[in-house]
Amino acid sequence: MDDDRMTNEENYAFDVAGYLVLKGVLKPAEVDALNTVLDDAKETSGMLAWPEGRREPFRDLLVHPLLVWYLNQVCGVGFRLEHLPRLLTNADSADTPFGEPLTGGDEPRDQSRAYFHQNQVRQCQFVRAIWALEDVGPDDGGLFVVPCTHKENVETPEDLRNGIDDMGLVKQVVLEKGDLLILSDTVLRGFRPWTGQGKMRLLDYGFAARGVIHSTGTGEMVDSDPYPEWKRELSEEGRAATYVPGYAHATPPPTILGDGTSNRVADHRDLYHPGIYKLDPGNIDLKEFYFWDLNGYLVIRNIMSRDDIELANEAIDRFSDRIVVGDELSRGSKSLAGTGRPLLGALMELPKPYCEPFRRMVGHPAITHRLTWMGGSGFRCGGPTAFLSVKGSTGHALHDSNEPLNPSRSYVFKNGRSYCEAVTIAWQLRDVDEDDGGFACVPGSHKAQYPIPPGVRSCDDHMDLVAHPTFKAGDVLFFMDGALTHGALAWQSDVGRRGILIKYSARNFNRSGGDMCHPENRWGPEIEGMTDEQLSIMRGPDRDNRRGNVPRLDIVDGEVRVNYDRAGGLYSTATPDGPVAKDR
Ligand SMILES: [Fe+2]
Repeated sequence: MDDDRMTNEENYAFDVAGYLVLKGVLKPAEVDALNTVLDDAKETSGMLAWPEGRREPFRDLLVHPLLVWYLNQVCGVGFRLEHLPRLLTNADSADTPFGEPLTGGDEPRDQSRAYFHQNQVRQCQFVRAIWALEDVGPDDGGLFVVPCTHKENVETPEDLRNGIDDMGLVKQVVLEKGDLLILSDTVLRGFRPWTGQGKMRLLDYGFAARGVIHSTGTGEMVDSDPYPEWKRELSEEGRAATYVPGYAHATPPPTILGDGTSNRVADHRDLYHPGIYKLDPGNIDLKEFYFWDLNGYLVIRNIMSRDDIELANEAIDRFSDRIVVGDELSRGSKSLAGTGRPLLGALMELPKPYCEPFRRMVGHPAITHRLTWMGGSGFRCGGPTAFLSVKGSTGHALHDSNEPLNPSRSYVFKNGRSYCEAVTIAWQLRDVDEDDGGFACVPGSHKAQYPIPPGVRSCDDHMDLVAHPTFKAGDVLFFMDGALTHGALAWQSDVGRRGILIKYSARNFNRSGGDMCHPENRWGPEIEGMTDEQLSIMRGPDRDNRRGNVPRLDIVDGEVRVNYDRAGGLYSTATPDGPVAKDR
């Protein structure tokens, strides 16, 4: 089990149908132990926080070696518990043919639950692990699925969702005591009346990939307010666009509505994600959408007012003593080499009036309008940073791509909608001409299926694939940060670069760590006395960047062990790098 991978048969079955049944994972004695506690408890949830002596068998299942081995391959290393365990019993079974409407399906797509697969790597973002504690026969009722719906392209018909017509698609899940069902959360499913001889007893755990954002935990910090005082002075739209994920007040995130020239925060938190197949006249410019899908970036001209351009430039001149010369970023390239890149951060915290043009950027209607169709409502950003290269400043070797695929920074087009999880915006405070340098990218690389060639990365042998858009002061560049291969050319002009970069993330993923990564902030009594292995999957949405940047579980000689190795760039600083369990 240490090095082996799932068989082709298992991979094929999960890929095609969306689930796998693993036979006899629990021994009869383990099933009996769970049933004995459940018989006494007469409760169907809260197991992880039950008193010592009762909670252990449920905590052990969190890190069952075989489950961990499969989840590492199905969900990706660094997976986390997202939904606390609950027992599904006869009482959850319906009286009516289907009971509640079916849940699941992949249209419209939800990136934070979705099934991703590319070049032999699968990253299913939300997976249910359902343990059978009693047998479920072929005609017993209870849990059923509609296979293959994790990849459906057409919205579930109302009659199927509401149980009026099963269309001959519904399939009973047959299980024996001790079996484990591993189910993609987007598989359409529901409950039929239980008609079996025995009891229905299914123990259901929900696991999410490391960076996925869904629900809050039960910890005290969840209800706190992490906003610094100055953020309260932002416009309502600006505050809505700078929320910190993981807290109750931002779960689900705010919805900003607008048409590109004005915007407002909605009085609801429903997802709003328009697409081009349901034409919303005046809402999406089809030429913009075409350019975006084709190239992976978009330039909108002349958004910023002359007054704001002037004031923003004056702010940079006035606070130039705060400029920090950053790293040389050419990474061995001959053509991009130069001196360190000058940066100026904390622009929204400058004294008034100098902070104001930067504060107006984050929730600007021309920005929020496009972000809404690029990745759906509920996006957020960090603070703006000024990129202030001077003549001779380094370029930035090209980086990021669609291959290898990284769901939290991916681009998917489905049924007329753009699903882009990470968008960076660069406001231009000065003109950028052909020979000046600055932002460069490989148009179309957000759909690449092969890795970036070294010559393109360095731009030393760019094969005429690299584009260098030009700008006028007041223009704004949007690009797919993470999906599009991008970087910068060395700065050649006597007049310095003045680009203000703001990184936006869609509602579905975290890519910057934060307090809510810590199990003790996210959860309450559920984690008291847990082992390091158990704690590692009680983290909140963590920095999702590369495989080796969060604590993850390995199987060593059949045992589960936490691996804290900082392999891969940009390790989350808000996540433990060694054991954290208190003495039991
Ligand atoms: Fe970048």
